[in-house]
Amino acid sequence: MKRIVILASGNGSNAQALIDAASGGAIAGEVVAVISNVPGAHVLRRADLAGIEAFALPPQAGEERTRYDARLAGAVRALSPDVVVLAGWMRILTMSFIGGAGAPVLNIHPALPGEFPGTHAIERAFAERAGGRTSSGVMVHLVPDEGVDEGPVLGTVEVPILADDTIEDFEERMHAAEHGLLVRTVADFLGATQDA
Ligand code: GRF
Repeated sequence: MKRIVILASGNGSNAQALIDAASGGAIAGEVVAVISNVPGAHVLRRADLAGIEAFALPPQAGEERTRYDARLAGAVRALSPDVVVLAGWMRILTMSFIGGAGAPVLNIHPALPGEFPGTHAIERAFAERAGGRTSSGVMVHLVPDEGVDEGPVLGTVEVPILADDTIEDFEERMHAAEHGLLVRTVADFLGATQDA
């Protein structure tokens, strides 16, 4: 079974989708650990409830970003992952992490390639409805370097913004789209990678 390590900072609905898909056999892999930079993040509880190793690895006060990233990479590498999935990971990662994780890094971002990099992408797309925007979308991409939300794209899905949507309606539709895309993309990615 391929080994999946998830990094997440918050609620963890994307991590939950991966956990459920892997335990249900929809992905030829198992989630071996969930790591959060935020102690007490709900995503850690989700992993606990699923019987999956879960721990917080918060930055230490005044810790250099590259020092933290090297520490995080060490913790991830020790888990011998076949893939690392950033599922709502809200910290910029340097090559200290990317180069030391020991596996390809995938990220899910709630925007289509080239649109709305960074935070609050869902809200920013919704705000453009008044200007005529009728859709946005989600992408899963590789994280080969320090570029934010811009690596080689592995999958996308377009998500409509309806005229009578509230931001909550649109956000709910986007998160549902994320969960489906993430499972499909990770399944394809692991299926495509030869047995180690
Ligand atoms: C999602 O919108 C994800 O695409 C973005 O951060 C959010 C995390 O949501 N990177 P959750 O914690 O997975 O529910």
